[in-house]
Amino acid sequence: MSSSPKVFVAGATGLLGGQIVRALLDQGAHVRALVRPGAPEEKKNALTGLRADGLELVEGDITDPAERLAEAVGDATTVISAVQGGPEVIVEGQVNLVRAAEKAGAKRFIPSDFAFDLTKLDDGDNFMIDWRRQAAAALTGAGVEVVSVLNGAFYEVMIGFMGLVDWEQGTLSHWGDPDQPLDMTSVPDTAAFAAAVALDPAATGTLRFAGEVMSMREFHDAVQRGSGRTLRLRHLGTADDLRAEIERRAAASQNPFEYVALQYQWCMVTGKAKFDSLDNARYPQVTPQPLADFVRAGAPAA
Ligand SMILES: NC(=O)c1ccc[n+]([C@@H]2O[C@H](COP(=O)([O-])OP(=O)(O)OC[C@H]3O[C@@H](n4cnc5c(N)ncnc54)[C@H](OP(=O)(O)O)[C@@H]3O)[C@@H](O)[C@H]2O)c1
Repeated sequence: MSSSPKVFVAGATGLLGGQIVRALLDQGAHVRALVRPGAPEEKKNALTGLRADGLELVEGDITDPAERLAEAVGDATTVISAVQGGPEVIVEGQVNLVRAAEKAGAKRFIPSDFAFDLTKLDDGDNFMIDWRRQAAAALTGAGVEVVSVLNGAFYEVMIGFMGLVDWEQGTLSHWGDPDQPLDMTSVPDTAAFAAAVALDPAATGTLRFAGEVMSMREFHDAVQRGSGRTLRLRHLGTADDLRAEIERRAAASQNPFEYVALQYQWCMVTGKAKFDSLDNARYPQVTPQPLADFVRAGAPAA
């Protein structure tokens, strides 16, 4: 690793992006963090409060003209994207960001993938993952090297957004085979792996990380141990039942965000998006937190 490499982070005000900035600073990098014009002061303050030394905030939007965005990228050698949004952000915006990175002379781009193994999925399995696959296809042959970082599901999302745990009812619900292994990682550990990849000049292709590889039965056990609560494990149906439920909801709603959490679960519980191998050993300095400890610490759900 060269001394103090500079990394540009888009999405720095987000859940994952903020942690990536933190991890990069912790690992000795200089960071140029993109902040959208008009971003709330508290979001900017959260970044500047991290550490003034080594952190520059630059204003911009990844849909800005590539010439202007290239000025924001400046002399960063690696560009990380942790943006979230629709296809205008994830496909067109990220392609625009890569054009800007090329103009600025950056060498590598880490797209906002941060998911389970999206290389194994088909179009239609998950519409938000489709956009990431479309961005990857559009970036084939780009003038910067594209390195994808995958982490399975965030612990925060397994406890929160997925809607599996109902603390009031005292239940943990799941679809599919309770013994199917699932990949998952906390947001800070995903950020630490992403920073390690960004600072590793030899990293190429797609790198896969997991804080835990556990079945739903083991997940249930870890959540109980961590929380000190007894939760009844509820089986909602088979993976085929889940597919039918997704199709039923898709037919009944114009808004795919109403069932995207089920699409994420389907990709996991079928094993279709399961990692075949992990790259954790490449970065022994990152020691992911066990899920039970994460729950015990009362870490936030997302
Ligand atoms: N594996 C998992 O379980 C899991 C779960 C959640 C997320 N993720 C992935 O993690 C990544 C980050 O998600 P997140 O939850 O951290 O997102 P988030 O909290 O919603 O943050 C999104 C970030 O993108 C920025 N952004 C949006 N549009 C932009 C644009 N046009 N130009 C510049 N910046 C823009 C936002 O800026 P503002 O602050 O100005 O809005 C914000 O900083 C995504 O790839 C997401 O799919 C994975």
